[in-house]
Amino acid sequence: MKFFVDTADTTAISELNDLGMVDGVTTNPSLILKSGRDILEVTKEICDIVSGPVSAEVVATDADAMIAEGRKLADIAGNITVKLPLTWDGLKACKVLSTEGKMVNVTLCFSANQALLAAKAGATFISPFIGRLDDINLDGMDLIQDIRTIYDNFGFETQILAASIRSVNHIQDAALIGADVITAPPEVIRKLASHPLTDKGLQQFMDDWSKTGQKIL
Ligand code: G3P
Repeated sequence: MKFFVDTADTTAISELNDLGMVDGVTTNPSLILKSGRDILEVTKEICDIVSGPVSAEVVATDADAMIAEGRKLADIAGNITVKLPLTWDGLKACKVLSTEGKMVNVTLCFSANQALLAAKAGATFISPFIGRLDDINLDGMDLIQDIRTIYDNFGFETQILAASIRSVNHIQDAALIGADVITAPPEVIRKLASHPLTDKGLQQFMDDWSKTGQKIL
């Protein structure tokens, strides 16, 4: 499973990238706002850090303007993935940009039927939003399972990019189902290393070690 980091925070991206934990990056207008940076400048910086796909989202809502914005974003670097909303216009733009050979991530997906349309329009990635479905008392993981089944039934190559990940359980469940990629905030990726029994066991080893009076270095 590939790990994308869902942030425009270049310090966090660099730190995780140095550990080999970053296969790609996803951003969106809200994350650009949070960064306080210029979209073109920060996206270029991210593309210089990470060799994998870096999703940059259009903000136009009609197909022609989305295509123009997508082309401009794709010019930033060779690893840009143009991120488009799952609307009818977004699907039109997906078809055009994917036919031009650009990577496309279709975002704001909340149903299996939407995911089916994105695959038919040539999307490289489909981004179902798990956490936002959980927020309205639906089960986001059911959507990941349904898309996995449909894509496997028909051999669609669009990669399932589980998004709106809020917890380590989301990552484990998406991995068990067979999502191709997860994108998660840096703090959720860091939490994957935590376990209370690891902390407890380490404390015991440290206590016992101090009683030996020995040193390794
Ligand atoms: O990748 C999409 C993500 O940024 C949305 O996450 O937590 O705002 O629903 P969230």
